Amino acid sequence: MTPKTAATSVRPADPCCFVIFGASGDLTHRLLVPALYNLAAAGVLPDAFSVIGVARRKLTSDAFRQDLEKSLHEFATRPVDDAVAKRLLACVTCVQGEADDPQTYETLRRELASVERARPTQGNRLFYLATPPSAFAPIGCHLGRSGLAREEDGAWRRVIIEKPFGTDLASARMLNRKLLEVLNEHQIYRIDHYLGKETVQNILVLRFANGLFEPIWNRDHIDHVQITVAEALTVGRRGRFYDSTGALRDMVPNHLFQLLSLVAMEPPSRFEADAVRAEKADLLDATQVQNEADALRNSVRGQYLAGYIANEAIEDYRKTKDVKPDSTTETYVALKLMVDNWRWAGVPFYLRTGKALRSQLTEVAIKFKQAPFAMFRDTPVDRLAQNFLVLGIQPHECISLKFNAKVPGPAVAIAGVGMTFKYEDYFDAAPSTGYETLIYDCMIGDAILFQRADGIEAGWRVVQPFIDAWRNAGARDLAAYQAGSEGPSEAERLLAQDGRRWRPIA
Ligand code: BG6
Repeated sequence: MTPKTAATSVRPADPCCFVIFGASGDLTHRLLVPALYNLAAAGVLPDAFSVIGVARRKLTSDAFRQDLEKSLHEFATRPVDDAVAKRLLACVTCVQGEADDPQTYETLRRELASVERARPTQGNRLFYLATPPSAFAPIGCHLGRSGLAREEDGAWRRVIIEKPFGTDLASARMLNRKLLEVLNEHQIYRIDHYLGKETVQNILVLRFANGLFEPIWNRDHIDHVQITVAEALTVGRRGRFYDSTGALRDMVPNHLFQLLSLVAMEPPSRFEADAVRAEKADLLDATQVQNEADALRNSVRGQYLAGYIANEAIEDYRKTKDVKPDSTTETYVALKLMVDNWRWAGVPFYLRTGKALRSQLTEVAIKFKQAPFAMFRDTPVDRLAQNFLVLGIQPHECISLKFNAKVPGPAVAIAGVGMTFKYEDYFDAAPSTGYETLIYDCMIGDAILFQRADGIEAGWRVVQPFIDAWRNAGARDLAAYQAGSEGPSEAERLLAQDGRRWRPIA
């Protein structure tokens, strides 16, 4: 085994001012500040750096700094070095204002002017919209119209937008349209935290930096692909958001489609943002948009009932705080999708995701076509194990290959065996929030890990028929599953009708 390799050193990001809308919110405290701390500890934040929080409630800069310090100690992914934390917090200030109040942007303009006079941030500004989705368009429009996000005198101005980007195709289009009226596409960074995961990024490297996979990565050799994002977490305290969102909108057009497009896209001509994003959008564009009848046939949605996960009693989804007692919101979804291009025609992609399942498991499993059994017909061998290449993303970061081997001994016996590469055996990676790479990339202007307008819309186009079909079906066909199980039994049928089975969620 080769010695462990640490991350190669990277240059500090460009000088800039990092403006966070939604500064007193959960995302800022749980993820953004620990991520900024990790960047500071790695020495990649610029010397000329400042953070301005924009919060709805009145908060002095001192109180904001204290809040952030407390959260940093609570949510940091590594031991906090007080000197690094102090240096980071020293460049934080806070202003108060509502997203849709023009006065907020005047206050922010004054604060930016004062910060930019005090620190040579060169006028570069990164606006992070860590707010509820309803505020994305108003903030984007005010930033554009007020001129705060206008790129001038060599300064860059970028806007990071959190998910969910829209709630369906029409709203995603509308949001894109509104933002693009006041900003240029190159200024908009639509984030999906799945792209911050090393193992997700590695899908591209595995496919395109190795000569052995590409020749067999197609319908001649691949039988089907299973993409699983299973969570043992329940909806918890997110009832209000989740009940109006559901598993499909929350996970599929974003996280699962990122995995789908990386696994199935054509090789880009360059490792560069526009080339990569064009191929990803093309793949989603080639994914069949089903009619409502097919969408019903090719999908299963379910909602969890009371059960146990790791000995903990879980109550019915419908009893969750802020969830309607007669809610038909799905907490589980399984889909069968087809990609209409030369590489994938006829190869089903089965996707599933759900909450309150037996355990956490995120993986992409590629099932290769079965070897002909003919040669073993007159032997004691009665079946061959399946060839799977599994890209493990969570909780185990690994790649494993399942194949058949001869069992030692005089008799002809064959058993399925596996070879596994584990990231931790080869690489030393400091624990992170997953946001570090994304924030750093935005600060250096690399959009490769962010979504472009066309990719977002292509994803919603594929998902829309499922949304429509389920809305029209109401509670009909909404399956139930026990918390702590592998999901509704109906999901088994989705594959069984094609003579296939899901891999276990274990
Ligand atoms: C978020 C969803 O985008 O992703 C959550 O809103 C979900 O519902 C989370 O739990 C899953 O992310 P991860 O990184 O834990 O797989």
